[in-house]
Parts: sequence; C-alpha cells; structure tokens
Amino acid sequence: MNAPHGRPRLAAVIVLAAGEGTRMKSATPKVLHRIGGRTLLGHAIAAARAAGPEHLAVVVRHERDLVAAHIAEIDPEAVIADQDEIKGTGRATECALAALPKGLEGTVLVTYGDVPLLAGETLEALLHEHAGTGSAVSVITARLDDPTGYGRILRGPDGEVVGIVEQKDASEEQRAITEINSGIYAFDASMLQHALSQVGTDNAQGEKYLTDVLAIARSSGGRVSAHLVDDLWQTEGVNDRVQLARLGRELNRRTTERWMRDGVTIVDPATTWIDADVTIGRDTTILPNTQLLGATAVGADATIGPDCTLTDTEVGDGAQVKRTEAQLAVIGPRATVGPFSYLRPGTELGAKGKIGGFVETKNAKIADGAKVPHLTYAGDATIGEGANIGAGTIFANYDGVAKHHTSVGRYSFVGSDSVLIAPVTIADGAYVAAGSAVTGEVGPGQMAVARGRQRNVDGWVAAKRAGTKTHLAAEAAGGGGESGPPEAGGQDASPRHTQASTEGQAQA
Ligand code: UD1
Ligand code: CA
Repeated sequence: MNAPHGRPRLAAVIVLAAGEGTRMKSATPKVLHRIGGRTLLGHAIAAARAAGPEHLAVVVRHERDLVAAHIAEIDPEAVIADQDEIKGTGRATECALAALPKGLEGTVLVTYGDVPLLAGETLEALLHEHAGTGSAVSVITARLDDPTGYGRILRGPDGEVVGIVEQKDASEEQRAITEINSGIYAFDASMLQHALSQVGTDNAQGEKYLTDVLAIARSSGGRVSAHLVDDLWQTEGVNDRVQLARLGRELNRRTTERWMRDGVTIVDPATTWIDADVTIGRDTTILPNTQLLGATAVGADATIGPDCTLTDTEVGDGAQVKRTEAQLAVIGPRATVGPFSYLRPGTELGAKGKIGGFVETKNAKIADGAKVPHLTYAGDATIGEGANIGAGTIFANYDGVAKHHTSVGRYSFVGSDSVLIAPVTIADGAYVAAGSAVTGEVGPGQMAVARGRQRNVDGWVAAKRAGTKTHLAAEAAGGGGESGPPEAGGQDASPRHTQASTEGQAQA
C-alpha cells in the first residue's frame, strides 16, 4: 500500500501507555507527570499528531480513568483503547487495533507514552525510510554504551535486521550487542494484524512481545529495516524522577535554543524555562531567572525579566515586565510592569499602561495609559484611560460576604493612601483627595474628600514634651509654646486649634 513517491498512507499511530511506572513512586500515573508544561503523554500525542495519521489510539490500563480523562481533554479525537489482563507491548498493540476501524491499510506507527522528546520529524524520517525500503517493519534503533535493560537488535550475516531479543531472554553473547530497540516502529497494517495473532507468551516475562513481530514478518518474506538515530534523547523514556528532571532540562535546552535561533535574545538559557506551547516574538529579550509557562504569548521587542514567572499570560509588543508573577493576565503593548508586581487572573493592562512596585491586581481592567504605580491592591476594578491611582490605594472589594466592583473613570486621579470601599463609581475626570475612604459615587469634575479635617494644637509640644529635644527644636523654630502656653499640670485643657487649609473640604 505504499505510495509511489514520498511516504505511505499513515493509517494510525498507536501510543502505548498502559504500563504502571512503579519507579516514579507517585500517586500520579507516570504518563501524567509533566515537563515543559505538558504531560509526558501530551508530548507523545503531539509528536504522533505531527506525523498526520488518519487515526490515533492510546492504549491505557493502569489508572485508566485518570489517563483517559486527560486524553479526552487534550485530544478529544483520540481513540482510547483498553488493554485487558494479558500483558505485553504486543497485546497492547493488539488491543489498539481492536479499538480502531477494521481492515486498516497502509502504515501503523507504534510509539510510547513515556518518551517525551521524540520529535514529529523523526517519525517522518522513519516513515520515509519505511516506504523507501518497502519494508514490512521499520524500527528506530540506537547505539548505547550501556544497553542494559533494552531489547537488542539482532542482525544477520549481511547486516539485515532479523529480530529483537529482550534482555531477559538474551544469551550472554546477545547481551553484548549495543544496538537497542527504541520501541518505536512503523508496520505494514495488515502484516501487523496477522503477525500479532501468532505471537505467544512463551518467554522469560510471560508477556506478548511486540518485538516478536519482526521475526514473524521476516519468516513470511517481509523486509525488516532499522532506522538508527544518533540523538539518543529522542528515544529515552522516563522511568523515575531523576530521568524526569534530566529530560525536562534537555527539553528546555532545545526549546530555548529554538527561540534563540528564531530571533529571541535569552541572556541565560540555563535559568530560563519556557514551556512547549509558549510563543515569543522577534527581538524580545528574556533576562535571567524567568519562567514562561502554559499558553503564555509574548510579542516582539518586549523585555521580560529578570525574575519573572508568567503563566498563561499575554504580553504585547514592546512591553517591559520586571520581577513579576502573572497568571492569566494581559499586558498591553509598551506597557510596563514591576518590579515586584503580582498580576492575578483577569488583569488586563492597556497599551502604555503601568503596574508598578508592590502592586497586586485581580480581575482588573486597566485601560490604555492608566497608571497604578506603587503599593496598591486593585481587585475587581475598572480603571479608565489615563487614570492615575496614587501610592498605597486599596480597592476594598470584599465586605466579608461578597466581592464588589469599583470603577475609576477616564483621566481621574485617586490621591495616595485612599481606600475605595466597593461598590464605588468614580466618574471620568474626577479627583479623590489623598487619604480618603470613599464609599459613594464621585461625579465628573468633582473632588471627593473623605477623611478627617486637619487640626493643629498650639503649644502641645511645650505642654506634653517639655524639655525634650523636640521641644528645644520647636523653641528654636519659634514654636516653643510662648504664644499660647497651656495650663500648668500638662492638661491640654484649652489648646488653641487652628484649621489647616488643605484641599477643598467636602460638603458636609
Ligand atoms: C520494550 C521493548 C524493548 C525496548 C524497550 C524500549 C518489548 C517486549 N520490549 O521494553 O525491546 O528496548 O521497550 O524502552 O516490547 N506497555 C503497555 N502495555 C503493556 C506493557 C507495556 O502499554 O502491557 C507500554 C508501557 O506503558 C510503555 C511501553 O509500553 O509506554 C514500554 O513498556 P516497558 O515495560 O517500559 O518496555 P519493555 O517491555 O521493558
Ligand atoms: Ca522500559
């Protein structure tokens, strides 16, 4: 069924993921552990999809429901095939074929759910080799200094592949072979179906081995070829947490290198972690200790870092984000954020907007050019274009029972150290005096002052702090108490109050 040119029709990819993964010592199934922001199985499925199969099946058994739910979430089209109590990679493959449409024609690829660095291009290369050689089976192999544990590739006198022997079934002589079976194969679909029905379990592990298909294919006249890969990372599976970290670091090395080759400056790739699904525009600079996670998308000419963790966050062109934690946030073009800012879900900062130091935002829409520069909590807020929120402003959104919304209008100005006790609406072009506790509406053009009026008590220092350095300083400055000494005995019986003239006083 091979096409005359190029590769054969790819009927299906089967991803084996029924195994237990005991060495992870985890309540989480092995294939659901993550590197680069995706599960191991997610990486395997992405590579499988990149090969463009007509069908994709994943074989499950251990923690079946958890794994199946994850597959349904990341690839709803995938067929979930349940393996029965018969063990082995051959049985797993047979169960997948049983779950797929009958009579598949063309090529079937088999891969593993715990081999996360396998690239779609490698599967492409395998398919081309498979088609080009007209093989019944093509297997990806690798040469390892220490092949312990792997199936060994058996070659005939003229170098052609004649079969695979498992470590546990191998003779001393066979164990010396350093070419190993990666477990990734291309099969002719109908040959595979037929050969599997002949595979038994008469081996050291009592399992139905997929590897036995190679010898069966050969004995019925089929050709078996090997596709030797140099890049050993691509065939390495995860068995424990040490390998998880090792492969995680290598994946990250590859990801950061890909972005650098694509025009992104990464000052310190070793401390920069970029998830597989992140996108970054050209001429963006990433400074050390930065993590770009999940579906984060960074535009061009931006500067991110140092010390940022951005998760599922969108950053516009030319934005600058420094020492910031952001989650499900949108940072507009040429906006600036940080240092020490915490952007929680629902934060949307407009173009050229600013979120500054020690500011926390949540569900806050901050329009173009608006500024929240210092020491503020803005939760459940709408802040209009060009508005300025003074240092230390708190949007008090929670009354102990429910959350309420605050809206600050265009080009409005909230003075420092104000509390906006939601629900509050401040109109366009309004002011709030510093230190206010605002509980009601402020109309356009109005100035709200909601705090105690300043009063100055003459002679207080002389009466209460006589003889202190403060008193001496007051005397030197002409305010030692001469103009209105209070009664002896230190009672502030008749202090003289003066009104300070501050900003306009609110109507009573
Ligand atoms: C298998 C190969 C071996 C190869 C090695 C590469 C066989 C018989 N042996 O070894 O030649 O060098 O992979 O890693 O195929 N799985 C199932 N159902 C099962 C058993 C396994 O789905 O009943 C899945 C596992 O989840 C895993 C993959 O198949 O993803 C490989 O299983 P594993 O037990 O690691 O491989 P071995 O059989 O030791
Ligand atoms: Ca294994």
